[in-house]
Amino acid sequence: MKLSDKIARCDESPIRKFHPYAVAAKKRGIKIHHLNIGQPDIQTPPAYFEALEAFRRPVLEYAPSPGIPELIEAVRGYYARVGVSYGADEILITTGGSEALLMAMLCILDEGDEVLVPEPFYPNYHTFITMAGGRLCPIATSPEENYQFASREKIEPLIHEKTRAILFATPGNPTGTTLRAEEIQLLADIAKERGLYMICDEVYREFVYDGSPLTSAGKLADMDENLILVDSVSKRFSACGARIGALITRNKQLMRGAIKIAQARLSVATLDQLGAAALYGVDAAYFDATREEYRRRRDTCYKKLMEIPGVFACAPQGAFYTMATLPVDDTEAFQLFLLNEFEDKGETVMFAPGSGFYATEGAGKSEIRIAYVLRCEDLERALDLLRMAIERYNAR
Ligand SMILES: Cc1ncc(COP(=O)(O)O)c(C=O)c1O
Repeated sequence: MKLSDKIARCDESPIRKFHPYAVAAKKRGIKIHHLNIGQPDIQTPPAYFEALEAFRRPVLEYAPSPGIPELIEAVRGYYARVGVSYGADEILITTGGSEALLMAMLCILDEGDEVLVPEPFYPNYHTFITMAGGRLCPIATSPEENYQFASREKIEPLIHEKTRAILFATPGNPTGTTLRAEEIQLLADIAKERGLYMICDEVYREFVYDGSPLTSAGKLADMDENLILVDSVSKRFSACGARIGALITRNKQLMRGAIKIAQARLSVATLDQLGAAALYGVDAAYFDATREEYRRRRDTCYKKLMEIPGVFACAPQGAFYTMATLPVDDTEAFQLFLLNEFEDKGETVMFAPGSGFYATEGAGKSEIRIAYVLRCEDLERALDLLRMAIERYNAR
């Protein structure tokens, strides 16, 4: 039976595709240090579980399609604290930031339309754009320039009549690059001048390590028609399994479009919404402690990486990822070596090979993405394993 061309054009997740080899290694008794997936180990605030335990209604009903009022109000209150005022009808609760991204693409793209995305990018951007019939147009960046992409010279030559949007995350996955206010303003100016949507993925908003206050592209003036924000509780509250996110826009026409999809998918899980609403009551100390822990991990990860001969990395400014260039020819083959052949005292390490974060053929082959979501002691061991493995791989 034939599958759609759209699904054929989608790639497997570079983050999950080595899973079967990891299962086999674990069966052989190998302990794997997971640097491959952005699953935080920080405890989910108890408020989430307490809200679920307190649920006493006799029927677990569908929730309203745009989201339950308690959660929408909680999100509004949170944005007010960030300094942005949103109306309840400008916030659509979604099944994770993932659904918000997919809905945005379904609303704005026709077959063959293009979305500009700085490369390397979060691989699911490619999947969501492709599922909606669009094409991802990469904006080239380089590790030497700290993956910087917010420049007219890089972006403007890529815009043509099929270009519909520019999509980026700040702080970014997989690079940790965090845009400065003037860079976001520049992207907004280009979007406005060229009639593009600007889709700003802010799911890592809390994870910035230079002490700057929380901010959002929602603060930009005069972007009501162009701006779509993607948000999520997954990383903010270490609640990835809750699957709660939001699509936020003042563009009324776009919101009407997104609501059509929201109505067709009926609703987001009622209990998860109640739990997520409770999460927004967590006090600032939770974020300060979490941010401090990740800052320590970032520092450990960067220091250990730079001690490995031949490795190049930029100090990531935010999120909990870093790209690193390794002195190996092909990091996919190297990952297989790590899972199938390498071990030290019964342990090995996993990362995400870089090529899956690129659309450009052949790019990223010597790069890896590391998610520094382990405690510092474990990170140190994982990076020692990486160093040993590089030596053994290259000595074969
Ligand atoms: C940049 C970025 N955007 C969106 C998401 C989607 O997250 P979720 O659907 O859990 O909210 C992720 C998840 O890792 C991500 O890294």
